[in-house]
Amino acid sequence: MRFLLMSAVAFAGLSTLAADMTGDADAGKAKATVCGACHGADGNSINSEWPNLAGQHANYTVARLNGYKSGETKDPVMGAQAAGLSKQDIHDLAAYFATLSVKPGEANPEMVDLGAQLYRLGNDETNVASCAACHGPKGRGNPVAMMPAIAGQRFNYTINQLNAFANGTRYGGINNMMHDVAKAMSTEEIEAVASFLEGLH
Ligand code: HEC
Ligand code: HEC
Repeated sequence: MRFLLMSAVAFAGLSTLAADMTGDADAGKAKATVCGACHGADGNSINSEWPNLAGQHANYTVARLNGYKSGETKDPVMGAQAAGLSKQDIHDLAAYFATLSVKPGEANPEMVDLGAQLYRLGNDETNVASCAACHGPKGRGNPVAMMPAIAGQRFNYTINQLNAFANGTRYGGINNMMHDVAKAMSTEEIEAVASFLEGLH
């Protein structure tokens, strides 16, 4: 029994390692040319509606691309982009974007105080959880817990995602956690935290 348990643990460890090692960043770079048209040649998008991919944790990017490919996450643009990607392509692309650095923008000075407060503390009165509790004090996320990096993300993209979590068009992760967070937020809070995140570094 003890032996079985230990080999199960060893096996789980090995398969995690193998999963992490399937992405080849150099191969991903060659495959990323088409993505750069929207997400930027360096993974920093030039349009506020399109997300930066630079510096994102590879396991999260893999999960997102799988979601678009399977249709679990419905998006006409990314559904078409992901449709032709193989499992290997997805891992290579995710490994490549993880090596790039996100370039944050500037927060709107009129919104940044509310955004920063909400990010760090949440809103007790309306039950908005602290974003920092899951995404980390600097918005770098946590790959082990599958928490995405959100620092420096584009303003309109963040607003769109928070609205999609709130109205259920995007699933909010294990136990739909982002649904509960986003649906408790006011429009003003969503804009303020999106602005704070765009400038966070
Ligand atoms: C025509 C523009 C366009 C192209 C080309 C494109 N994307 Fe996207 N991408 C988008 C848009 C728009 C979204 C936001 C979709 C949404 O709201 O879910 C997005 C979202 C994503 C996301 C989710 C990011 C996050 O933070 O969750 C990933 C990952 C992604 N794209 C990867 C890629 C890869 C890899 C390629 C190349 C194979 C690619 N994209 C090509 C426009 C594009
Ligand atoms: C209980 C943990 C938790 C809390 C609290 C939390 N998040 Fe999240 N967040 C997640 C997880 C997990 C995901 C990934 C969901 C998925 O699988 O697509 C996520 C995804 C996101 C995304 C989408 C990122 C992308 O690239 O598409 C944004 C934006 C976001 N969160 C913003 C926030 C903000 C703002 C707050 C605070 C008001 C917050 N989150 C609080 C766990 C959390």
